[in-house]
Amino acid sequence: MSTLHEALIPISWLEGRWATEEGRGTYPNIPDFQYHEELEFSCIGQPMFNFVSISKHPEKQTPMHQERGFLRIQPGTNNLAFTVSHNFGLTSLEEGTFDVETKQLTLETQSLARISFAKPPFVTKIKRNIKLLAPDTLEVVLFMETSNTPLTEHLKAVYKKVDG
Ligand code: HEM
Repeated sequence: MSTLHEALIPISWLEGRWATEEGRGTYPNIPDFQYHEELEFSCIGQPMFNFVSISKHPEKQTPMHQERGFLRIQPGTNNLAFTVSHNFGLTSLEEGTFDVETKQLTLETQSLARISFAKPPFVTKIKRNIKLLAPDTLEVVLFMETSNTPLTEHLKAVYKKVDG
């Protein structure tokens, strides 16, 4: 049973589980790659979505990148704050807004912290665009800046809503 907080009604379409139809990674100096990813946005009655993302190698099914976090809304506004913990030792605080008409969220890092034994290159900025293409279809495009590379697309994925 959904316990969606009323502040999330303008972005209620995000709630639920999503699985990639296609996930493509790219970045200068690394080979292009494909990935499978599942996202979950769930609400337990607070003005935020609890967020989980798990990606896997599309053939070997071995785990790749993981994220856990909270996508908070400032009630009564279109302001968003996304606090995310990444499995490779990074935490990102991203802020942005949503557009009710285009059903799109845009988020950009306000701060980043990494573990003491993180390997370079270091992530220095993340930007995400999350857009509902159709009621059961979501697109996420993620751009990244590192200590070596200016802001460049790293991920582009299209997801279908998963029942249950
Ligand atoms: C490479 C960060 C999401 C797969 C990298 C690099 C960084 C990075 C810093 C090294 C780039 C370089 O050497 O110039 C991030 C961040 C992510 C993210 C901040 C999310 C916000 C993902 C996801 C996947 C993925 C979801 C796929 C499942 C890869 C792969 C490489 C890579 C395969 C190349 C590794 C190698 O060749 O050594 N990522 N990544 N990343 N990332 Fe991501």
